[in-house]
Amino acid sequence: PVTKKYENILVELPKPGVGLITLNRPRALNALSTALFVELNDALQNFDNDDSTNAIVLTGSEKAFAAGADIKEMKDLSFSKAYNTNFIASWSSTIPNIRKPIIAAVNGHALGGGCELALMADILYCSSSATFGQPEIKLGIIPGAGGSQRLTALIGKSRAMELILTGKNFSGIEAGQWGVAARVFDSAEDCVQGALETAGKIAGMSKISVRAAKEVVNKSQDTSLREGLDYERKVFHGLFGSQDQKIGMSAFIEKKKPGWSNE
Ligand code: CAA
Repeated sequence: PVTKKYENILVELPKPGVGLITLNRPRALNALSTALFVELNDALQNFDNDDSTNAIVLTGSEKAFAAGADIKEMKDLSFSKAYNTNFIASWSSTIPNIRKPIIAAVNGHALGGGCELALMADILYCSSSATFGQPEIKLGIIPGAGGSQRLTALIGKSRAMELILTGKNFSGIEAGQWGVAARVFDSAEDCVQGALETAGKIAGMSKISVRAAKEVVNKSQDTSLREGLDYERKVFHGLFGSQDQKIGMSAFIEKKKPGWSNE
């Protein structure tokens, strides 16, 4: 079942087509231990494989989305152990392969790996009082799960350098102003509700076009414009081979609601 019991996360189906994963290690402010990440990957994979789910919301608590990688787990790590075990490889083993949209609803601290995890989502919502940051420099390390790459791509080199070199935080309001967050909410509750509403809207679309849309937008993140445009055109053409294209366009012309076949 998609909603099985885990130690460090809660998994629910709050509305049709929508999966909700809540990071739930309150005593460690949702620090992202390996054990937590293994569970998160399992839950994401289950939702991705589940025919009745079409979008996934990922959230934490009001106090912390996640306060980073687990410092207690990393403290005694050696270079050879980190290298030989490919430490934190689990962070990138599953999330990049999830084909359904993931919406992060970020409240409280999203620091270090917590900020990086939020940046891995397809859509990021936050509350104005959320605090983001890459404080790794204060621990004698650097971001290790995409902070120097994804954050820089989003907010530009100068701002990213300032944050990553000093470890200072930025607020949910700044996240909205800088384009890190698609929407900023007044409260944690509104943020989670907003994410669930958007996920519900997405869940009402054809699964095929939702997958294709996520795929082509992601393509833009690591390819040239020319290649990305060619890729988009091919996927666009391909959708004329789906039943849902006929269903969607006929419904528009007949002024009806489309009843997707997902085929
Ligand atoms: N790892 C492990 N435990 C953590 C943690 C983390 N990242 N963040 C918080 N905790 C634990 C604390 O150790 C504390 O546990 P104890 O009660 O056993 O002491 C508990 O959570 C509550 O934390 P605080 O008492 O510190 O709570 P606070 O409200 O005073 O402060 C905070 C909150 C500002 C978020 C502070 O906890 C903090 O600075 N945390 C660390 C943030 C950080 O440096 N993150 C980056 C980690 S490195 C990384 O993520 C690498 C990477 O790129 C992949």
